[in-house]
Amino acid sequence: MPPHLARVRAAELDGIEARLIDVEVDLNVGLHAFNIIGLADKALNEARERVGSALKNSGVKPPTKDNRKITVNLAPADVKKTGSQYDLAIAVAYLLATGQIKHFNTDDKLFLGELGLDGGLRPVAGSLNFAMLAKQHELKEIFLPPANAREAKIIFGARLIPVPTLRTLLDHLSEETLITPEEFSEPKPLQTEGIDISEIRGQEGAKRALTVAAAGGHNILMSGPPGSGKSMLAQALVSLLPPPSTEEIIDASRIWSAAGLLDGSYLATRPFRAPHHTASLAAIVGGGQNPRPGEISLAHRGVLFLDELPEFHRDLLEALRQPLESGRVNIARAKTSITLPARFTLVSAMNPCPCGYWGDPEKECRCSAYEVFRYQKKISGPLLDRIDIHINVPRMKIDELRRPADSRSTNELKARISRARTLQINRFREAGLDILVNAEMSSKDCERFAALAPAADKFLKDVFDRSLLSARGYYRILKTARTIADLEESPRTEVGHLAEAFQLRVREE
Ligand SMILES: Nc1ncnc2c1ncn2[C@@H]1O[C@H](COP(=O)(O)OP(=O)(O)OP(=O)(O)O)[C@@H](O)[C@H]1O
Ligand SMILES: [Mg+2]
Repeated sequence: MPPHLARVRAAELDGIEARLIDVEVDLNVGLHAFNIIGLADKALNEARERVGSALKNSGVKPPTKDNRKITVNLAPADVKKTGSQYDLAIAVAYLLATGQIKHFNTDDKLFLGELGLDGGLRPVAGSLNFAMLAKQHELKEIFLPPANAREAKIIFGARLIPVPTLRTLLDHLSEETLITPEEFSEPKPLQTEGIDISEIRGQEGAKRALTVAAAGGHNILMSGPPGSGKSMLAQALVSLLPPPSTEEIIDASRIWSAAGLLDGSYLATRPFRAPHHTASLAAIVGGGQNPRPGEISLAHRGVLFLDELPEFHRDLLEALRQPLESGRVNIARAKTSITLPARFTLVSAMNPCPCGYWGDPEKECRCSAYEVFRYQKKISGPLLDRIDIHINVPRMKIDELRRPADSRSTNELKARISRARTLQINRFREAGLDILVNAEMSSKDCERFAALAPAADKFLKDVFDRSLLSARGYYRILKTARTIADLEESPRTEVGHLAEAFQLRVREE
């Protein structure tokens, strides 16, 4: 390579996938100019100012004192470059091209980070994704801001070199003072702390439904009057779930990293996301100019709680249909679309009518029949069809509320759920399937794994036609029944399991 030309590697993030970008700097004789070419967005064009000041304040010769034409080219040219993570690579390539640092092998290294005017490095989004990219390409080292290095240390691959300032990097490259690399560390799963289910008095039916939902990853809708404890129950669900596995931690953390939400750590717990009903479609489903993961992707491997379900915009509820079915969301862009993972358990709550007391045995409902109808109609049939468990959460009686809490049973319950989940994981792994819980089974998987005892088969035939269920509803019953059987560690699905699955599915209306 001619001495006035240098090439350093950086990376671009597209959704949660990263790809390598070459940053080339060329110096030419001519009037002073500093141009960035190669489909760069505005934040990237501002790199000129940041890099210029950072160089000046790090004790090296900045471009402004140099009466030469500087061209920064980002290749490949057909990939749109966004964000500020190119600053460090541009600075290093410039220093190489101007001969201010010794030449070294740049092919097996990645340089990432935003520069402050003082030469300090600021964290960027996507470091975990970049570390996975480096591993895939067998790169040796990644130079990145310290917080990002701590975030990416759960990926065993390239060596992570935390760079606090441009100056420390220069000293490292000149071998004056070497930076200590960030050590790889195995992720340590943590239990998500929600509300302990023992704090909830009574509501035995709802607790049983939550247990089944937690054990098999089933979506659940709770309907009931104000103050009956629906929001409380939803938060109890997440504390019933076993901590995530190492793979699940990495799987969810890379989405959070791409969204820039990991602040020098990784996601050790199962996520619990509870967006408000006024949140925008892009915030919940994902998207925007530079597509970002939405709430449904941030809830990947965890729980998405939609409280007051009918208050959410109709378009939004309809947009949930595809991800609920496939565990992924497609986000359309100008020319292409990207796909993000979104495998979550939906927990939703609603009042049965605008006043909240429709169907209450004692308290009178103040809504007209039409108002009740309109309110319930906000949630479409196809969406309801994707929710395996529908329950009513009735108003509590004082005697039940005053009953003492029983915290002993919580641990027992958690252990049962955990055993049921392990059974499922092992079953699917042995079959070579890439799913973890019964709720994720396709209809084909259902027939394969939800083997019915002969009596159960007859029961299903008898009840199915009478219950006016859709074909999807049929498979959903099978899945829920399988989970109930797994909770009892029963190899076959029996009549009792099916009967309970029906009960959990059919709403009293
Ligand atoms: N079963 C219960 N055990 C203990 N406390 C309860 C129970 N049900 C309700 N509460 C208490 O009542 C409060 C309200 O419950 P919560 O917010 O869960 O009701 P909700 O059904 O979501 O009501 P809304 O329909 O108005 O949203 C809780 O903060 C809790 O203190
Ligand atoms: Mg509530």
